[in-house]
Amino acid sequence: MPNNQNILMPIMSIVIETTDLSREYKSYQKPEGVMNSIKGIWNREYTSKIALDKTTLQIESGKIIGLVGANGAGKTTLLKILSGLVTPTSGDARVLGYRPWERKNDFLRQISILLGQKNQLWWDISPVDSYALLARIYDLDLNKTRLRIKDLAEMLQCSHVLNTQLRRLSLGERMKMEIIGALLHEPKILFLDEPTIGLDIVAQENIRNFLASYVKEKEPTVILTSHYMDDIATLADRLLLISKGNIVYQGTVNEFVANSNKELAQDDKVDFEEVIRRFLETESRIR
Ligand SMILES: Nc1ncnc2c1ncn2[C@@H]1O[C@H](COP(=O)(O)OP(=O)(O)OP(=O)(O)O)[C@@H](O)[C@H]1O
Ligand SMILES: [Mg+2]
Repeated sequence: MPNNQNILMPIMSIVIETTDLSREYKSYQKPEGVMNSIKGIWNREYTSKIALDKTTLQIESGKIIGLVGANGAGKTTLLKILSGLVTPTSGDARVLGYRPWERKNDFLRQISILLGQKNQLWWDISPVDSYALLARIYDLDLNKTRLRIKDLAEMLQCSHVLNTQLRRLSLGERMKMEIIGALLHEPKILFLDEPTIGLDIVAQENIRNFLASYVKEKEPTVILTSHYMDDIATLADRLLLISKGNIVYQGTVNEFVANSNKELAQDDKVDFEEVIRRFLETESRIR
């Protein structure tokens, strides 16, 4: 009997694993006044900030994780470490078995990070020219890549801007171009840091629907951050709630809402967005 059960159990593999992963940033505090600035050349004062504090987590293959937290909670720092852009100060992490910050080619070919607050494609050339460069970097088949760009652009309804210089595009158009760039090499792991930031409601929905059908078809593992709770509620299988560098909740959105509502009377029950709003409000009071 136990054997039969094992056969029926889906085999889940852990693709992202961290142990006590931490990152501290030190920054120079420039003093006021010319004299103090001159003194500061010899005697610099630094303040330190723990952006990520001993984070231990495991993420299964094919899951979409919604990473939610206040401004400055450590979301981008975590994604940057897991994608190899930033080195941790202590602790360890494995993504697909690799230490991300060692930046091995085999690792980089299998992951992608989209930073909604930053352009990653080349500013002065058209997206198709950027994609051609990326295809070279990732050593992709050019014909297959062309078809892939065509398909992705059609799905995102943005074929008409593929040949326009990136800097001439609107924010929403640019984001779609960045998404295509991030998906060009069919990454197994996708880090999406605010992919809908600053977009109008229709563009947000458009990107959300695109991501939903893309992950359904390709089944990548995704960590998604967003300040729009519709993104998280629609796309995420699981919620990771982060507060001042610490993961304070891991589980499903539904469980989180149910737990938060436990103490409330039936008439006062609140939805996901309101639960998060209350959480952030408490955060801002004790910051
Ligand atoms: N390069 C850096 N140098 C110094 N401090 C930094 C640096 N990058 C981030 N920090 C600090 O680390 C903390 C976490 O920043 P992080 O960008 O990870 O937050 P976040 O959760 O992504 O916030 P947001 O929602 O605003 O994007 C913040 O207090 C930030 O000021
Ligand atoms: Mg951020």
